[in-house]
Amino acid sequence: MTATKGLEGIVATTSSISSIIDGVLTYRGINIDELAEKASFEEVVYLLWFGKLPNRQELNDLQAQLDQEAALPAEVIDYIKSLPNGVHSMAALRSIVSTLALYDPEAGDMDQASNVRKAIRLQAQLPTIVAAFARIRQGLEPLAPKKGESIAANFLYMLTGEKPEDIAVEAMNKALILHADHELNASTFAARVTVATLSDIYSGVVSAIGALKGPLHGGANEQVMAMLEEIGSPEKVQAYIQDKLNNKVKIMGFGHRVYKNGDPRAKHLQAMSKQLGQLTGDLSWYDMSTQIEELVTGMKGLKPNVDFYSASVYTTLGIPRDLFTPIFAMSRVSGWTAHILEQYEDNRLIRPRAEYVGPSNAQYIVLEDRV
Ligand code: ACO
Repeated sequence: MTATKGLEGIVATTSSISSIIDGVLTYRGINIDELAEKASFEEVVYLLWFGKLPNRQELNDLQAQLDQEAALPAEVIDYIKSLPNGVHSMAALRSIVSTLALYDPEAGDMDQASNVRKAIRLQAQLPTIVAAFARIRQGLEPLAPKKGESIAANFLYMLTGEKPEDIAVEAMNKALILHADHELNASTFAARVTVATLSDIYSGVVSAIGALKGPLHGGANEQVMAMLEEIGSPEKVQAYIQDKLNNKVKIMGFGHRVYKNGDPRAKHLQAMSKQLGQLTGDLSWYDMSTQIEELVTGMKGLKPNVDFYSASVYTTLGIPRDLFTPIFAMSRVSGWTAHILEQYEDNRLIRPRAEYVGPSNAQYIVLEDRV
């Protein structure tokens, strides 16, 4: 038995949800480029869960169910209020989603219909949680979700208390679509491993949130912004990046395990970053980002991934940087739950082996004789 570090190149399951073939990403066979330009996030959620685009009636029904489920139980709002000051936003999200399960009478039910209802509930409630967390820590009351609004518009409203501009809704909708699913990424794999023990859907999503938190995965978007802020201005980019690369420090938002010729999601976020910068009259984050891209690609041959330009997009939308990864989660929960439903459909425990590299024939030494 020989291990492959990081399971690189290992095909661990079959799936019909999303594919990455020759650098092209599809959801249920539809190119992500087309979905990013034409679809609503709600249509994409339906597509991921049910394997086809919804007709008008099906989309209306999904919207009505999301509306119905978006509010949080009062106990969960109280729980958010009880969190310590300054807690990490992804640690908070992980705990809040775990707490949410305690107030769902269907949490432990394993039949398909209740799992679909819980997927809808999780998709509807995650944006409410992220917005409530953001307001409560500022000493503000959380806002109830509005009915009949898209997830993108509702989230921005619940975050700021104001009706968002169309361009902000469009940008958020596109970002949610681009983050919705990504084959067997680390957090989705974590979700599938958890539910393959026949544990419940909430346990799967909590595992996934824990995996997404890390800076090698979803946590990278926050780190990209931290880097841009640390650099401070376009004329400091070159020295900063050269110094990091010369010292073998990774530049967050670059590189990918699967894409070696570029992440197809990055160009959409780059275009949005530029468009939003032009509209607000502040292209500094965008300009710094393009300079960094040029340097990292030139020096290391690495291309930006989905996290790189999402940082300047969210910042230009006025979103605090520690909410970037929770926003990723409120999109990716659609993919996690689609994969969880798929795993349940044809389940087998996921239990690989390890190549043992420890000592052999070691002896037990009684406590008194140990040095
Ligand atoms: N900056 C500088 N060098 C890098 C970077 C980077 N961002 N990414 C990879 N490299 C280098 C490595 O140092 C390594 O070089 P070496 O062979 O000289 O040691 C080589 O490229 C291969 O890198 P690995 O880390 O082995 O590649 P792996 O496939 O394991 O990791 C990963 C992929 C985690 C995405 C990596 O590129 C990385 O750490 N990027 C920065 C974090 C990031 O942006 N994560 C988000 C990924 S997208 C997502 O999850 C949503």
